[in-house]
Amino acid sequence: MTASVSSSRLALVTGATAGIGAEFARQLAGDGWDLVLVARDLQRLESLAAELRAGRAVQVEVLAADLVSREGLDAVETRVAASAPRRVTMLVNNAGFGLRESFEQNSVEDEQRLLDLLVTAPMRLSHAALDQMLAARAGTIVNIASVAGFTPRGTYGAAKAWVLSFSRWANISYRSRGVSVTAVAPGFVHTEFHDRMEVSKAGVPGFLWLDAATLVRLALRDVKRGKAISVPTVRYKVIVWFSGWLPKRIVAAGALRGR
Ligand SMILES: NC(=O)c1ccc[n+]([C@@H]2O[C@H](COP(=O)([O-])OP(=O)(O)OC[C@H]3O[C@@H](n4cnc5c(N)ncnc54)[C@H](OP(=O)(O)O)[C@@H]3O)[C@@H](O)[C@H]2O)c1
Repeated sequence: MTASVSSSRLALVTGATAGIGAEFARQLAGDGWDLVLVARDLQRLESLAAELRAGRAVQVEVLAADLVSREGLDAVETRVAASAPRRVTMLVNNAGFGLRESFEQNSVEDEQRLLDLLVTAPMRLSHAALDQMLAARAGTIVNIASVAGFTPRGTYGAAKAWVLSFSRWANISYRSRGVSVTAVAPGFVHTEFHDRMEVSKAGVPGFLWLDAATLVRLALRDVKRGKAISVPTVRYKVIVWFSGWLPKRIVAAGALRGR
């Protein structure tokens, strides 16, 4: 085991067992950040923690929690709000999933779970973090949104639009007080997301797919710059720009590809 030295930088990443969250954890650990990894699957959390500690002087805690449950969310809020023994200096609200069917076909319970994970969890965790971050006049909040948040795309797009709008406002409000808030809006990324949804990736042209490593590298560059909104890659910046101008019916039709 490598001896670890505590750094003043501690990032809590939700949804750290797979995809974009695991990549945030890897790149932050590579940059010397200590970590708190959050997701439901304890075994996967522990195996990632062991991988990150190996050969690096970083400290990694794991916190198994279902962010859709009251107790799970409470436990993570308590960790994020704590200023001792070590305060979380970066919060990455990343955990998420999508629903395969359209709004009227999904059960209202599944829709509620989606809203709980994509909106309630980042809202409550940001609220919990802000107290200690504003008191210290230092902190970073990263909220994973989606390009779907710029388009009419069901309740998933609506939830991600909340994340974009909240982050835009929060960055203006808190940046002068030492806390930056960045929403990252990825396009299609190779992760477990679509497999978990059981949707085919075949309808999406190859050039629209990003790998998680590139996405996170570009996102972290924007986070360091204190940007409110990060849309990684030029191709997606262009798509977002056009979607602001095109009639919403056309944008909505284009957004259905890949489902
Ligand atoms: N992949 C894309 O194309 C894409 C595009 C735009 C935006 N996004 C957004 O990116 C974020 C990450 O998605 P991903 O693509 O990396 O998906 P992923 O590979 O499926 O990973 C999702 C992560 O969220 C965790 N998670 C799911 N439900 C949870 C719950 N109830 N409580 C706690 N953790 C939970 C999962 O871990 P456990 O199963 O262990 O709990 C996993 O670590 C999401 O917010 C998603 O909406 C993805």
